[in-house]
Amino acid sequence: MNDQADVLFSGDYRLSPSTAEALEMWLGTVAAPIHDQHWDVSDPKLFGNEKVHEIFREMRAEAPINKVTGTPQGDYWNVTTVKAIQHIEALPKIFASGFEVGGMVIQDSTEQAKLEGRGKTFIAMDAPEHSKRRRAVAPAFTPGEMVRLSERVRNRTVEVLEGLPRGEQFDWVEKVSIELTTGMLAIIFDFPWEHRHALTYWSDWQSDLRLGATKELEELRKEITLEMGTCMYKLWQQRLNAPPAPDLLSRLIHSEEMPEMDPMEFSANMSLLIVGAVDTTRNTMSGIAEGFDRFSQERAKLEADPSLIPNAVQECIRFVTPVAHMRRTATEDYTLDDQTIRKGEKVILWYKSANRDETVFDEPDVLKVDRDNARRHVAFGYGVHRCVGARLAELQLRTLVEEMIRLDIRPRVTGKVERLDNVFINGFSKVEVTLDPA
Ligand code: HEM
Repeated sequence: MNDQADVLFSGDYRLSPSTAEALEMWLGTVAAPIHDQHWDVSDPKLFGNEKVHEIFREMRAEAPINKVTGTPQGDYWNVTTVKAIQHIEALPKIFASGFEVGGMVIQDSTEQAKLEGRGKTFIAMDAPEHSKRRRAVAPAFTPGEMVRLSERVRNRTVEVLEGLPRGEQFDWVEKVSIELTTGMLAIIFDFPWEHRHALTYWSDWQSDLRLGATKELEELRKEITLEMGTCMYKLWQQRLNAPPAPDLLSRLIHSEEMPEMDPMEFSANMSLLIVGAVDTTRNTMSGIAEGFDRFSQERAKLEADPSLIPNAVQECIRFVTPVAHMRRTATEDYTLDDQTIRKGEKVILWYKSANRDETVFDEPDVLKVDRDNARRHVAFGYGVHRCVGARLAELQLRTLVEEMIRLDIRPRVTGKVERLDNVFINGFSKVEVTLDPA
């Protein structure tokens, strides 16, 4: 497979510029959009500096469902509590995800993106297409599959943790979070191992909504997406001609739904799985290092009682909430808590806010590994689109925490902590830590 992979991939994709470099190069050339309304939280900086939490707190107290108008992202409804988000997600016919009606993020799906087929992913589809497509990938995430993968997840986690330097500062994001999540995705795709860093690169280029802000950035994103599509298409051909295997690509290719998918849709779904798997779990892993250092008494509780680890994982997911929002578009007028949302209006479900909802979570801004109801978080969404990869994320995160405790890996933050300025995917670009000498 590896020799073949070299032939398949050689010279087919780039790994630079990074998204940070590209944004620096081109975003400076356009005037920053003006966010002059206090409850317009679509400014990515509010997520990087965490000011968004104060604003959400005000909204939950004063108007948990409220509408802002004339923002750089147009008019939209803010939905900020667990109850309201679950109510809306339980009505997928009225609150649609379809790309043709607007898509699943705060930025509207543009005509150009529609033409390029970027919306052809099942997270941006409604019934009946959504359910058919989801059925094709769901078998890769059953409890039985998780058992099958668990040994490889553990071996890889131990390998990465044991290879960390002791007594010298390093970036946890680079050496742990990226290494583990990229490696895991390569395993579930059976993606050529030595090319796995391309998965992280492609994921970064898909998940930052600012990368569509200028013509140059949009153009570059298109080229990089095309490179990803080309590599994936070659793998598709290779797996098509091979007998069915348990990896996710092979399952998808040999599924009943496959004949209905064109290369563009296949590539869009790969992109969804790459972003879904890499960015989200990666940022939670970084949040675990940062959170266990800031709330060191919580880590001590796990050392004393490792049976708390599964609950601690849910609490860390709640605390980080790596997917800040999903969007729906109303297909008819609907009144919820005295607010009438009109047909065609954009509705933003702020998981970031709901997971700090003080009517559900006691002292929501504190990380508590023994929190009774940590599992009530909505970080994986709710209803028909609820994260299909949740079990895999939980497996990876649980294994990481178990092995950190067993191997006595206690990252202390000794350098920079940099958060992402991103309105969609939240987390960290850097968490510099030091481990005590062994
Ligand atoms: C901590 C890690 C993760 C978080 C917080 C997360 C969060 C989410 C959220 C919020 C949604 C949308 C739910 C909704 O609209 O109600 C979603 C959907 C999805 N996620 Fe995840 N995710 C994570 C890990 C993963 C992993 C590991 C994979 C795959 C390997 C994955 C693949 C997907 C896919 C394919 C969808 C679309 C499901 C659909 O539309 O039916 N996610 N995820």
